[in-house]
Amino acid sequence: MTNKIIDESRQGEVLNIDSDDSVSEKKLYIESYGCAMNFSDSEIVASILKDKGFSTTTELSKADVIFVNTCAVRDNAEQRVRQRLNDYRKVKKTKPELIIGVLGCMAERIKAKFLEEEKLVDIVVGPDAYRDLPNLLENAQDGRKAVNVILSKEETYADISPVRLQSNGVTAFISITRGCDNMCSFCVVPFTRGRERSRDPESIVQEARNLFDEGYREVTLLGQNVDSYLWTGGGLKKENPSPEELKHAVTFAQLLEKVALVHPDLRVRFSTSHPKDMNDDVLYTMAKYENICKYIHLPVQSGNNRILEMMNRGYTREWYLNRIAAIRRIIPDCGVSTDSITGFCSETEEEHQDTLKLMEEIKYDFAYMFAYSVRPKTLAERKFEDDVPEEVKKRRLKEIIDLQQKHSAYRTKQGVGKVHKVLVEGVSKKSEDHLYGRNSQNTTVVFPKGTHKKGEYVNVLAKSCTSATLIGEVVN
Ligand code: SAM
Ligand code: SF4
Ligand code: F3S
Repeated sequence: MTNKIIDESRQGEVLNIDSDDSVSEKKLYIESYGCAMNFSDSEIVASILKDKGFSTTTELSKADVIFVNTCAVRDNAEQRVRQRLNDYRKVKKTKPELIIGVLGCMAERIKAKFLEEEKLVDIVVGPDAYRDLPNLLENAQDGRKAVNVILSKEETYADISPVRLQSNGVTAFISITRGCDNMCSFCVVPFTRGRERSRDPESIVQEARNLFDEGYREVTLLGQNVDSYLWTGGGLKKENPSPEELKHAVTFAQLLEKVALVHPDLRVRFSTSHPKDMNDDVLYTMAKYENICKYIHLPVQSGNNRILEMMNRGYTREWYLNRIAAIRRIIPDCGVSTDSITGFCSETEEEHQDTLKLMEEIKYDFAYMFAYSVRPKTLAERKFEDDVPEEVKKRRLKEIIDLQQKHSAYRTKQGVGKVHKVLVEGVSKKSEDHLYGRNSQNTTVVFPKGTHKKGEYVNVLAKSCTSATLIGEVVN
């Protein structure tokens, strides 16, 4: 059974997840757009509704409740959701008691339009109000207004044990922070998800332990800026913690170590790192533990200092390159990927060339690349003009994509002739006789099945490659 997760933040990526379709009276169909945080939130929603007797289904026609968990990071997302809502309305025509809801990052923005004006949906719920869902469902069933988009300074859903919608039973997400305090001028996330808050480290470690006991072998710690994780005994990160509070605080490097110590066979990944906050402590912790994967996603956004300043990213090109140098020094075999935006307000051709030159210098293993899309409420929308013509943005985007493809192919090729420790995730999409998994650096590795099974670690000698996949044989 597959349930689609469509990633708006990570261009073109579609994650297919499986769900538990056990027999139950009420069925929830949930479709998620956006980043891994949204995917992870859908698992929390499934858990909250499971307690109210719902199980998940992947068939629209069987659903009693349909939720779409939305993303607002770029403007094409809204049109896609509108199309999906029209599909859901068709189902509702044959089943009037069906409840349709919009969750997530678009909730605040569309509540007036979709719920009140156009009556396209019955429920609208923001990312911090999922505990209110049972109550809102009751309201909607009684024909009453069902909307809650209030953002919280404390909510981390720390006590909720997510229903894993992912099928492979090997890899899972764990949220460690919610919201974002960074205010990058192009970004809508601080407005859709509110203030940054860190989750109790004990609940994170416990979730990792439970996952390991259930057979999972990899966890990815999630936050918009994992490096600013700081637990000082309360949910909201204190602006100016006292020296005494800091003595008892848990930093991201310390949290990473706690999770790595759960079990040597539990791999640990994390996303997203922020160049202004990623310190050497994190890198030394990564180097110290074999089970912390040697892979860092470090979004640069632009290679030009004037644009970086307008973006309010809090670092310069030189600072960023210094962080890359630290990674290469402390973890020489580390994979590095990035996010990049072309055509930000007033970006000149030369400034665009600076991004290309930076990419040439670093040669990322992988990158998510986007054309700038103006977002409501953001600093850039209020202060700057979106003046780079669409065709120029697209042309620049194509140039960085073409260059990145060359670099990805180059990096993958470097893995040929080497032995990679691979966590088996399942059967290869292209061949039933092959399994696939990833190495520590996050590169996909495909190899003949033999007697191996998912959840096992195998050593694979890479003999050849495509642009993004290593192909080899097990040499255990
Ligand atoms: N917190 C992460 C960080 O600081 O890099 C990323 C969060 S954002 C959800 C994912 C990516 O979407 C960003 O890194 C950026 O490249 C892209 N993005 C965000 N806002 C955008 C916009 N208005 N237009 C185009 N791309 C955008
Ligand atoms: Fe958006 Fe910047 Fe926060 Fe990332 S760090 S979520 S880009 S505001
Ligand atoms: Fe989109 Fe919200 Fe994630 S805007 S990228 S789903 S935090």
